[in-house]
Amino acid sequence: GVPWPPEGHGESVSTPEAGGGGEAGLRAIREEMGDCQRCGLAAGRKTIVFGQGNPRAELMFVGEAPGADEDEQGLAFVGRAGKLLTDIIEKGLRMKREDVFIGNVVKCRPPQNRNPEADEIMACQPFLEAQIRAIQPKVLVALGKFSAHWLLKTAVPITRLRGQLGEWEGIPAMPTYHPAYLLRNPRAKKDLWEDMKVVLELLGRPLTD
Ligand code: URA
Repeated sequence: GVPWPPEGHGESVSTPEAGGGGEAGLRAIREEMGDCQRCGLAAGRKTIVFGQGNPRAELMFVGEAPGADEDEQGLAFVGRAGKLLTDIIEKGLRMKREDVFIGNVVKCRPPQNRNPEADEIMACQPFLEAQIRAIQPKVLVALGKFSAHWLLKTAVPITRLRGQLGEWEGIPAMPTYHPAYLLRNPRAKKDLWEDMKVVLELLGRPLTD
């Protein structure tokens, strides 16, 4: 397999301890990011998309990187893929979008929505690590290949990896398809739903009907 992490494992951010968990912790992490210039994505972004939701969420989604709508609004998953994610959360999981936390591996939009590069992921990694530690979710959901590979420290293709529950620092982490992939391949929603049923059980909220 591909070695993970690549060289130059990101520096660690000391703020979550300093700021505590939850909202204060997240605020400290955001302050530490400042007007981030740690990678080349800074040049092309309009907004740092920090991620949003309940700072004490039991369920945290991790996507890939902001797109055009997210860069414009400064919020994660607000475009077309985001609308599908809202449906997954509200119609599928029967939770409220504001009760979960939604973030991304990389917090600035890659130009032309290209894939994030290893050095960009490395530069951003301390902040995602700190966010997860501050939120301490019960369950993580990795949306798509980049998130799944980062959280589970593997390079197994997402088609084979999805549904294979792993963990990140002891937190159960479910890799599943990215909503943008589901928009192009609606038949894969069946697999997503299998993965979400496991997530609901881990949250102690299995569906009864
Ligand atoms: N795709 C992602 O991976 N993240 C977003 O925030 C939006 C689209």
